[in-house]
Amino acid sequence: MKTVQTAVIGCGYWGPNLIRNLHEEPRAHVRYVCDVNPARLEAIKRRYPSVKTVADSRAVFDDPNVEAVFVATPVETHFDLASAALKAGKHVLVEKPLTDSAASARKLIALAERCKRVLMVDHTFLFTAAVQKMKEIVESGELGEIYYIDSVRVNLGLFQHDINVVWDLGPHDISIANYLLDRAPERVSAVGASHVSRQIEDVAYVTLYYPGNLLAHFHVNWLAPVKVRQMLVGGSRKMLLWNDIEPSEKIKVYDSGVTVRPMPDGRPDKGDVYKTLIQYRTGDMLAPRLENIEALSRVVAHFLDCIETGREPLTSGRVGLEVIRVLEAADRSMKMHGEAVNL
Ligand SMILES: NC(=O)c1ccc[n+]([C@@H]2O[C@H](COP(=O)([O-])OP(=O)(O)OC[C@H]3O[C@@H](n4cnc5c(N)ncnc54)[C@H](O)[C@@H]3O)[C@@H](O)[C@H]2O)c1
Repeated sequence: MKTVQTAVIGCGYWGPNLIRNLHEEPRAHVRYVCDVNPARLEAIKRRYPSVKTVADSRAVFDDPNVEAVFVATPVETHFDLASAALKAGKHVLVEKPLTDSAASARKLIALAERCKRVLMVDHTFLFTAAVQKMKEIVESGELGEIYYIDSVRVNLGLFQHDINVVWDLGPHDISIANYLLDRAPERVSAVGASHVSRQIEDVAYVTLYYPGNLLAHFHVNWLAPVKVRQMLVGGSRKMLLWNDIEPSEKIKVYDSGVTVRPMPDGRPDKGDVYKTLIQYRTGDMLAPRLENIEALSRVVAHFLDCIETGREPLTSGRVGLEVIRVLEAADRSMKMHGEAVNL
């Protein structure tokens, strides 16, 4: 088995999770950890004494033994670090969101194509057992026609200094919705407000309009007293609730819905609500069993598979770009107090 020599740039909050998962992956070896903050490097050195720790990312790019680089730094640095890594011939996994603009994401995608290197973005949730199961259920047709997705993703902090709450938490919901629905939205409308830092929205409500009368709505918030991670997927036949905070039974599929019938004495008339009878159906609930595997270990394994086979990642640069187009549109819409922005 070939071992891929890797480097992780950025070991603040999320980077150590990548390092841990890489350590547990037999096909990878962590050669370098890089961070501009010496205290972060010391903490890593204590835990993984054999890892080389460096403050300057050039040491990583200049080492021909390094084949793959993981970028887990603040969003504003993603483009420079990822493009330097690609130019040095490395495969790159970048944390979400891929970059801070659609224009720079497009440049990165083109660069990866020119350099024939794998570019993947870490939309971790797509690799969770819950989202994989939801995808299976949606694709099987069990829910019927999908009507809407409704998500609440709120907690207290972690405040980011370079991005607002939509750019921080929204990539999860947008990537999940695009994946489940297998399409991108046509329009975005968002409202948000800044309370703690004047320029950076910490509470936001985002609506995505998908083709086919399909709505997705996300509530993202850094100022909530409790952590809520809930997503509803409503269909014409059944409805699904995903509660990621639940230790077990994270997904519940409800055999619930409405049936519209003509009044016994009236004629069928779809347009006239007074001539119809709405019947509610509340049937059984089923909680499918989910595998208990850390999603980030799957992210790492998938990235290594793509390096080995040359396959396009599930969360490719292009998938990352679709997410950023929505984030940019949400920013524009928030500036116009919720006016819808076409994509
Ligand atoms: N996939 C997920 O679920 C998930 C979860 C949390 C964070 N993230 C993403 O991970 C990235 C990092 O977020 P975080 O919360 O860990 O941030 P953080 O601020 O805690 O850590 C970032 C680290 O990068 C270092 N750094 C900054 N510029 C650098 C440079 N030029 N070279 C080397 N090191 C540098 C900082 O010193 C810091 O230690 C963000 O893109 C964030 O969106 C992803």
